[in-house]
Amino acid sequence: MRKPIMAGNWKMNKTVEEAILLVSELGMLADEVTDTEVVVCPPFIALDAVIEAGAGSKISFGAQNMYWEEEGAFTGEVSPAMLQDMGCSYVIIGHSERREYFGETDESVSKKLRAALRFDLIPIVCVGEKLEDREKGTTEEVIRKQVETGLSGLDKEQAAGLVVAYEPVWAIGTGKTASDEDAQKVIQFIRQVLTGMYGKDAADRVRILYGGSVKPENISGLMQQPDIDGALVGGASLDAKVFASIVNFQK
Ligand code: 13P
Repeated sequence: MRKPIMAGNWKMNKTVEEAILLVSELGMLADEVTDTEVVVCPPFIALDAVIEAGAGSKISFGAQNMYWEEEGAFTGEVSPAMLQDMGCSYVIIGHSERREYFGETDESVSKKLRAALRFDLIPIVCVGEKLEDREKGTTEEVIRKQVETGLSGLDKEQAAGLVVAYEPVWAIGTGKTASDEDAQKVIQFIRQVLTGMYGKDAADRVRILYGGSVKPENISGLMQQPDIDGALVGGASLDAKVFASIVNFQK
């Protein structure tokens, strides 16, 4: 059985003070949750304070990005060693906003992924097609390349421990969610590609999330799909009550 994950990607939102308030409120609301893992990914500068404020709750913590080197002359970057030291369990890698605005590629995703694993961080690797890919009918081709290049070079155990987030770029922050069936179809395809790379046993253990305009109103339908193991939530994770109702989805 794959344990569901509901992860909040706060993106570039919240001051440290606001972040502390949000995690404290969420910690109380998520306290009853036993069968779903709850993860929050605040901005780097709020991580330390959020981890301290959320200690003792059911929440786990992640970063939104990292560099692949352990230390050195890389101005402005944050290393996996630093995240591990701070108490992070997860790190988002290859979010479409990083690919779009900061030049990330499947090759940098692959380097970051392997670096994260060296420091016992669980990568949440994002893949997803753009609107033009979907309109051209090349969704599967695009996703296959992202998965085969970005997630290459692991052993089966490492692969099985990954979290993948399928985030169709056209659904992020637009209010347009992929239909439950469309999301299931692509996520099933991702599992099929992973089966080709790492075998069925490993692929069946990978948790694959959907992301893109997830809200309390659409989470149940998504979670009824056999291959969808949770959600990576942007806007709706910035309000504790709203995110808690996603976490407490009813199947
Ligand atoms: P929204 O939930 O705001 O559409 O963002 C999704 C996302 O990018 C999560 O990483």
